[in-house]
Amino acid sequence: MHHFKYTGDRLHCESVDLAEVARLYGTPAYVYSASTIADNLARLQKALPGVDARVCYAVKANPNLAVLRLLAGLGAGFDIVSGGELRRVVAAGGDPGKCVFAGVGKSGEEIRLALELGVFALHVESLPELERVNRVAGQLGVRAPVAFRVNPDVDAHTHAKITTGKSENKFGVPLEKAEAACDAAAACRHIRLRGVQTHIGSQLTSPEPFVLAVEKLAPLVALLRKRHGIEYCSIGGGIGIPYKDALASGSPEWWAKNDFMTPEAYGAALAPELARLGVKILLEPGRFLVGNAGVLLSRVEYLKRGDARNFLIVDAGMNDLVRPAMYDSHHEIVPLLRDTTRPALTADVVGPVCESSDCFAKGRRLQELREGEFLALMSAGAYGASMSSRYNSRRLPAEILVRGAGFELVRERESPDDLFRGEKLPPWL
Ligand code: LLP
Repeated sequence: MHHFKYTGDRLHCESVDLAEVARLYGTPAYVYSASTIADNLARLQKALPGVDARVCYAVKANPNLAVLRLLAGLGAGFDIVSGGELRRVVAAGGDPGKCVFAGVGKSGEEIRLALELGVFALHVESLPELERVNRVAGQLGVRAPVAFRVNPDVDAHTHAKITTGKSENKFGVPLEKAEAACDAAAACRHIRLRGVQTHIGSQLTSPEPFVLAVEKLAPLVALLRKRHGIEYCSIGGGIGIPYKDALASGSPEWWAKNDFMTPEAYGAALAPELARLGVKILLEPGRFLVGNAGVLLSRVEYLKRGDARNFLIVDAGMNDLVRPAMYDSHHEIVPLLRDTTRPALTADVVGPVCESSDCFAKGRRLQELREGEFLALMSAGAYGASMSSRYNSRRLPAEILVRGAGFELVRERESPDDLFRGEKLPPWL
């Protein structure tokens, strides 16, 4: 569920007319709904009754400081993957003690920062990393809190580029080697083994792979509880959202009619398995919390009609939202001003970037749109702004946070000078 809908013929985010936001701040611009994020978190926090669970939001999905502040204020912890993300959490007023630090390639400097700031745990992915964490902790004279990431070899049935829990992926240690890895961790002088972690992939739309992963981990958790007194198991993120019916999925009626995994269904399937583990459970959702809480606003530059195809050329590009180019992902595209009297148009919706893959949709049926009119790419709150780049020397977009009838600019559009800030000309040129 989310708070984007037409009021009359104007697309609103909560009580804010999005065309007004587009006119005020220009396009491309990301707009986020604070109430949607808060509702999503509240639903997930309630979805696992009887389980001692804590939500650690995966910052990579949307690291805007305002989003982090909002979630911190609602009691969330954070799943971070770099020193940069840790600094963001701190800058947003989040508690490092509620952060778990994941990633296969943590640098010595990042490990040091995490230990100095006192993260809840480092999620270690390999024995060489364990050695490095032990060494840095020794230098600081502390014991590093650690959980091992275990790869359960479960097929998440999602896009190949976002599956992580198969044995051929680079993440974690295989389940068969996890016991020995955890024993090694517990034997390190400067390591305190606190738990185990797993994450099998992203955009999962059924609970079965999650249940299978927990079932596969359960014997290891039982053994490590007994042998090393571990306190928690993190089951990662991965809850999917409905991209295809994005706008319609704002209403409870859509959910009643469609068999799409809800957080409640996810929780109901997992709660018995998780309760049996007898340890604290961490969840690391990214997309579920923010994905349907954001849209990317764009403006039509040209409608180029062709014999074989029409092209609707918009001012947002793959540099602003790379998911369609990178994962062939579907984002619903809707006009900010609906006009049912207009003819329909079938077009490829493309950006201005000089790449054929700068295409948001192929052969999409839309209301005919004209130069200067606005549209929204739905479900762009997760892995949208966070994956944006300056490719083609395009400025990073503005970001706006809505709550109720109010809205605030939470990231300015970059200035033209920002584009080459830090670049230097050598004296011999
Ligand atoms: N925990 C770990 C260890 C992760 O690697 C990830 C995502 C998450 C949690 C959060 O997963 P989520 O709940 O958002 O599915 N850029 C891709 C998604 C990459 C996900 C990477 N890891 C996309 O746009 O679909």
